[in-house]
Amino acid sequence: MLTNKKITLYVSGSIAVYKSLSLLRLLIKKGNQVTVVMTKAATEFVTPLTFMTLSKQTVYTDEFKVESASDVNHIKIADETDLAIVAPATADLIAKMANGIADDIASSALLATTAPIYVVPTMNTHMLENPATKRNIRTLREDGIQLMDSATGFLAEGYEGKGRMPEPVDIVSWLEVMELSVTKQLQGKKIIVTAGGTKERIDPVRYLSNDSSGKMGYAIARVAQRAGAEVILMTGKTSLSRPTGMKIIDIESAAELFNAVKDAFTDADGLIMAAAVADFRPLTTAKQKIKKNDDNDLMNISLTKNPDIVAEIGKIKRSNQFVVGFAAETNDLLENATKKMLKKHLDLIVANDVANINIGFNSDDNQVTFIFKNGQQIQTPIESKLAIATELINVIGEQII
Ligand code: CTP
Repeated sequence: MLTNKKITLYVSGSIAVYKSLSLLRLLIKKGNQVTVVMTKAATEFVTPLTFMTLSKQTVYTDEFKVESASDVNHIKIADETDLAIVAPATADLIAKMANGIADDIASSALLATTAPIYVVPTMNTHMLENPATKRNIRTLREDGIQLMDSATGFLAEGYEGKGRMPEPVDIVSWLEVMELSVTKQLQGKKIIVTAGGTKERIDPVRYLSNDSSGKMGYAIARVAQRAGAEVILMTGKTSLSRPTGMKIIDIESAAELFNAVKDAFTDADGLIMAAAVADFRPLTTAKQKIKKNDDNDLMNISLTKNPDIVAEIGKIKRSNQFVVGFAAETNDLLENATKKMLKKHLDLIVANDVANINIGFNSDDNQVTFIFKNGQQIQTPIESKLAIATELINVIGEQII
């Protein structure tokens, strides 16, 4: 869990240093104590005073500015670190780390750190693609250091490319997943995860949909990837940031989702169906915007049933494939969920009480009961969707696969 930790945030010299200020605040908000170490170049972009004011801690910029006779700065910093984050990590600092160079406070403390180190490479595209940088990044990976993918987008140089520092919220999401205790129990498995709500078009500008935020499905996709799975995330439109390193298929309607799931399931090991699929769609979709009829106060839209995707897959799944469904219920949670699980031939159903406004559809927290084919039930506490996703992936790894 990314809380109650002593974090050292290493900031090296990039125009993206301004983003480290938000990153610092987010880490503090999560209940961590954060010490900032800046390279000389970083201090050219943002002053140490800004980081000191936000962190309420000494900001280290100089190896030789020693506060007490008994302290050796870089060793003190390294020893007091539970988790080190280098963001932004420039090509220069990455090169130093990869080669064991310790010629300033940041590189020396990183060399002395035995805690997990997370690196967010941030630089110009051409610098990132340079064989020397690629080689250094490879070396860091081989040394057991975790690296986040740089973001792609508009660079400070004025053109599009890879190398941007990802948004601080995305860095925090990544760190949260990396810090989970998940074993590699899905290594080599191909898992489909569906997320978000479907949209069923009435006309070009109107549709039927639901309140699903996609948070549960995205958390499951991230944790499954962390557990070693090759993940295919099929998602309706959400406002969430997209996980990296997995195949993402955007879908709109239940029919599109059904086709995508059917295609991918043939050689998949499992399906986790967290999407909120509309049960019905308009019988016809108007090609043009439907005009309001001034003579009639009533408007009828005929609906027809959508395929029940998880039930259809439940029918065709082989014995070495698993299918997990969700049950969103407002009443008789366990009884209704159990019926759904049996009817849809699922291996496991995640029963979710959507009548409780503190948990469920749009909230960050949830409480669910896992119901297995053999009748076994496990209720989780009210906890973050990430924690629930972790428990789900753990039970899939231990009891289903
Ligand atoms: N589901 C599906 N296809 C549908 C409807 C639902 O694959 N057309 C899946 C959901 O993704 C979920 C499970 O079925 O994993 C149960 O969804 P839920 O909405 O709880 O149940 P329904 O089967 O739609 O039944 P009801 O709405 O009557 O409770």
